Amino acid sequence: MKFDTKVIHAAIKPDTDTGSIVTPIHQTATYVMEKVGQDKGYDYTRSANPTREIMEDHLAALDNGKYGIAFSSGMAAIDSCLKLLKSGDHVICSDDVYGGTYRLFDQLLVNYGIRFSFIDTSFPDQVEKAITSDTRMIWAETPTNPLLKITDLNAISLIAKKNNLIFAVDSTFSTPVFLRPLEFDVDLVMHSTTKYITGHSQLIGGIVITNRKDLANKLRFAQKTIGAVPSPIDCWLTLLGVKTLDVRMKKHEENAIKIAEFLDSHPKVSTLTYPGLPSHPMYDVAKEQMSGFSGMISLELKGGIPAGEKFLNSVKLALLAESLGSVETMVLHPASMTHGDVPKEYRLTHGLSDGLVRISVGIENVDDIINDFKQALDKV
Ligand SMILES: Cc1ncc(COP(=O)(O)O)c(C=O)c1O
Repeated sequence: MKFDTKVIHAAIKPDTDTGSIVTPIHQTATYVMEKVGQDKGYDYTRSANPTREIMEDHLAALDNGKYGIAFSSGMAAIDSCLKLLKSGDHVICSDDVYGGTYRLFDQLLVNYGIRFSFIDTSFPDQVEKAITSDTRMIWAETPTNPLLKITDLNAISLIAKKNNLIFAVDSTFSTPVFLRPLEFDVDLVMHSTTKYITGHSQLIGGIVITNRKDLANKLRFAQKTIGAVPSPIDCWLTLLGVKTLDVRMKKHEENAIKIAEFLDSHPKVSTLTYPGLPSHPMYDVAKEQMSGFSGMISLELKGGIPAGEKFLNSVKLALLAESLGSVETMVLHPASMTHGDVPKEYRLTHGLSDGLVRISVGIENVDDIINDFKQALDKV
């Protein structure tokens, strides 16, 4: 089955009881048992729910994975992956990651004895150098949030295998339309389904996908034991949203390429980052391992912080909002919003300036988006 057929049909089948074309919402906490010790495969929704199972199987299939384990947020999904580790273990993490991931690792999990090295995973030799006898996991985002750095999955997979490390990839920005990390021997793929997968800013959710039964069993145990599970109605909304993932992503990308080219040549823009422009330092790797470059752009304006703020406050069609991957074009200021809890000194030494602007390109008519950015830049 081709991907654009799979995204509609992989695990979504008409309901066998009624023929309902839309998956039923099993909005229940519990299930009546037939007798002591005998149920119909479900006992309590924290452990399993039919709507959630279809959603998990469907998203797993899109990433060419065997097992999908869903969580109530992307952060809960990440936290559960880290629950595979124990006190004393060491993790190598991309130095540019979503601010919430950095906060979880650097400000919470360190209290439980897990140690982190934040390394630019675009450079495999730096990753290799950072490995110690306690290293158990490599956590990479590709493209990263917000600097859109690209990790060479083949290169890092080899290092992970050689050193017996779990290689986990946050693929939220790529989506399975453009990148399927399991095909590069990655162990765990994680998505914040809040973003492109559901696509309409309608819910918060996360999923981890793997082909490794041992890891799937442990994650399933964490899922039911910790209980950070998505509600049945959120699973149902995910199933509705994901059916258009393929068409949405192609339009996000088509728009993003035109907008990146427009902004790159604008006299008020000083730096522009988009993995689909040959000027991106990892353009060749991105082109090789992704079938498209997605819809995220980062830029800095001449005039630094005040210019960036003026631009963000002047857009009219685009929305100034946290999050990304929705049908609407959204802009944000990472330093005060998504990465507000990342210490300033860390941000600045890792290239995340106070003037940085991040754009999540929507699927509106591209001329309308460009005209909006034009009028906002005129005010800068
Ligand atoms: C790349 C990335 N990973 C993970 C997350 C966390 O996901 P959630 O907000 O669904 O908890 C985000 C949120 O913005 C993100 O951008």
